[in-house]
Parts: sequence; structure tokens; C-alpha cells
Amino acid sequence: MIRTMKASLLLVLYLAADHSLALSSRQCTVGQLAGDRLMIGKYTVEELIDISKAKIKRVDDRQTPATFPHATECADYSSSRCHNYNEVEPRRWVGGFLPGLFMQFYDWDISRCDLEDADAWLERFDKRIGDLSEEPTREGTHDVGFKVFYSYGHGYISTGNEDWYEPIVQGAHTLALRYSDTVGAIKSWDTENYRYPTNQFKWPVIIDNMMNLEMMLWVSEKTGNQTLWDMAVQHSKTTIRDLYRSDSCTWHVANYDGDNGELLGQYSQPQGLNMTSIWTRGVAFGIHGFTTVYKWTKEEEFLSQAIKTADCFISELEKCCENDYVPLFDFQDTEKRPDTSAGAIAASGFIELSTFVEAEQSVKYVLAADRILKGLAGSKYMGDEDMDSILVHGMGDFPVKDIDVGLIYGDYFFVEALTRFAALEGDR
Ligand SMILES: *[C@@H]1O[C@H](CO)[C@@H](O)[C@H](O)[C@H]1NC(C)=O
Ligand SMILES: *[C@@H]1O[C@H](CO)[C@@H](O)[C@H](O)[C@H]1NC(C)=O
Repeated sequence: MIRTMKASLLLVLYLAADHSLALSSRQCTVGQLAGDRLMIGKYTVEELIDISKAKIKRVDDRQTPATFPHATECADYSSSRCHNYNEVEPRRWVGGFLPGLFMQFYDWDISRCDLEDADAWLERFDKRIGDLSEEPTREGTHDVGFKVFYSYGHGYISTGNEDWYEPIVQGAHTLALRYSDTVGAIKSWDTENYRYPTNQFKWPVIIDNMMNLEMMLWVSEKTGNQTLWDMAVQHSKTTIRDLYRSDSCTWHVANYDGDNGELLGQYSQPQGLNMTSIWTRGVAFGIHGFTTVYKWTKEEEFLSQAIKTADCFISELEKCCENDYVPLFDFQDTEKRPDTSAGAIAASGFIELSTFVEAEQSVKYVLAADRILKGLAGSKYMGDEDMDSILVHGMGDFPVKDIDVGLIYGDYFFVEALTRFAALEGDR
């Protein structure tokens, strides 16, 4: 703990927030990462990454071509029939996370000069990425950012392989088709075919959408298209105005009249406990998303929103989950059901946020991330060896499905948080 605090005091000097961007295929900067000495509970970061790699390799080796893992099959942890990840179509929102994990491991290996291992991850990426080829132009959902930027985006940024550039540009313009000047936001879902209560929403914007904006900002910078930039910035401002509760935690949904832009209502379902509760993964998306938008735009308003969101998350954690800092799926859930994915997303966001704030605040966010990661890496929340997922006890889609399971995005953001933490420490 002490060591972490000392490190954090130097965080204001930490310029490697974009560390993944700086890597190119044959550069390696051994010694930059503190993975072999930074402890998370009883493991080093390196050990946790190795455990994660072994699981993800196994998942990939077994996966039916043209499908992607989403959630483990069921919640009976003692039964082996529940241990495997299910297989879903590329069009589902999670398609980018498996290739995204490959690229995270690739970056990790490159930074340690394990070039052969890195190549093996790149090969896996290359083999799978074609399965996502229809996603950059698939209209009908805001999830194009999750699917395209976390996969093609990461692949191109880490390797410079030109094959993976155009899909990112296409993805950003596909997302732009969903932007409305009248509302000042990107429409998240076309709800006609959704189940209740989502089908009641006319023109919904959800907090998750903050995670899709980096693709627009990146493409804007690359291509000089200012419109994409302005859309992402305005969407963020509208989100601040309409997707925040008075306590600075988030709503899940803001519903609009698309014809005149009028805000019709704010809700915590479909995914929260009820319509007025606090859906935790949404709050985590707010922390992570606003930190990212600030990283690109350097607009103070977005940093301050990331901080407010982070502080609400921490104060709710103190109330519900002081023991291990693993959040409930909804902060108001009296049955105390956890969501490890929300913890992983928040931890990753906290670490990034810690690089943009003053020393004292920085310490607070590093410590929060540290506590969450220790909780997640404890025996209660790490999947056993024969379990596909790295983390267990995630809440996918309450109350309908994927309840108390492993989730590929929980795994993705857990690995992201670990590698960010190691880079932060290693940068001293
Ligand atoms: C910039 O992007 C927007 C949104 O996709 C598009 O409508 C516009 O045509 C683009 N502008 C140029 C000059 O390509
Ligand atoms: C939501 O659940 C919380 C916690 O049980 C409760 O306090 C609140 O009144 C509920 N709200 C609605 C609209 O049911």
C-alpha cells in the first residue's frame, strides 16, 4: 500500500496514459512494466496475466469459427456444464472483446520483449478479425464502437497494419449516422424489437454509449473530419445534462422525443434493479468514458464529470461493499448480488483518471483501483482453473439472463486494469 502511495505522488508526471498507442510492432521497452513486482493480493500482476492468457487461449482454441464468447453458460459453479463460455454471433455487442484481449496480451508481450509470444497473439487476432468484417458498416446500434474500436482499432494502433485502418473509419461514420442534431446525441438503440421496458423508449441514449466515442475522436484526428469530433463532444455534454442523477451517479437511459429533442424521462432499467436505482456498470462506464473523452479533448468539464462519477462510485462502495470493494450489480440491491465486470471497468477507469488529477486525488483513485483489483483477484471472484472466465459472479443482463456468470467484458476490463496498473507503477 505504502509503495503504491509513493508511486501515486509521481502520477502527475505520468505521460504514458496512451501507452498502448506508443507501441509499434518491433519496439519493445522492457523494464517499463512493473508486472513482476506489483502485488494484487496473493498474485503479481504478471501471474494474473499468465492465468488470464491460459484461459483465453483455451477459449479461442475451442471456439466455433465466426462466433465469440459472451457469458459462461450458467451459474451453478459446481457443475462443469456451466464452465464454458457460450458462443454468440459477431453482430452481438461483445464481438470485439476476444480480439481485444489478444491485442492486450500482444502489447504486454511486446513491452517485455517476448516477441515470439506476441506474434502468437497477433496470429490469433489475424485469424479471428475477419469474423467481424461486417460490423463496421452494420447500422442499428451504437455498439459498433465496442465491436470495432476494441478490435480493429487496437490492432491497427498497436501494429500499424493498414488492413485494419479502413474498418475503423467506417465504424466511426456508421456511428455518426445515429447522431441527431435535434437531440444533440447518438441514439443508442432502435427499440422496436426489444422486450419490455426497452420497447417503451422512443429515442433512448444510454450511459454505455460513452464507451463508443473514442472511435469517433480517433478517426476525427486521423482524417481531419471535425464533424465526428463535434458529435462526440456534444454527445458527452448531453450525457452530462441528462444521464446524471443528483448524487452524480448515472441513469442507465435517457429517453427523448426524437422529433423535438425533449427529454421524456430518465431510468435505471432495463439493466438496473428497478427504474430509480443505481445500475453500477453504468456508473463505471461513466468513469471510464468521461476519463477517455477528457484524455482526447482536454476539456475541463469532462474531467470534472469523471471525478464526480468516480466519487459517487467510491461513496457507494463504502456503503455497500467496504469489505472487498467488489461492487453490487446495483448499488441499491438489498440482495447484495455482485457484478465483477462493473468492478473491473471502474478499476481501469480509476487508474487512467489518476493520471490526470492532482497528487492527493490521484492517490485516492489508485487506492480505490488497488482495493477493487485485490477484491476481484481474491478466491471468491477469480474463476477456478477449469472455468473459462477469468472472473466469476458477473451480472450480465438483469433480470433476464446471464445472471451470476463470467462475462467476456469483465475479463477484458480486468486485464486492461491490470496492464494499466503495471504500466503506471513501471513508469516511475
Ligand atoms: C465527416 O463526417 C460526417 C459524419 O459521418 C459526414 O457526414 C461528412 O460527410 C464527413 N465530411 C467529410 C468532408 O468527409
Ligand atoms: C428500488 O429499490 C430500492 C431498494 O430496494 C427502493 O428503495 C426503491 O424504492 C425502489 N424503487 C422503485 C421505483 O421501486
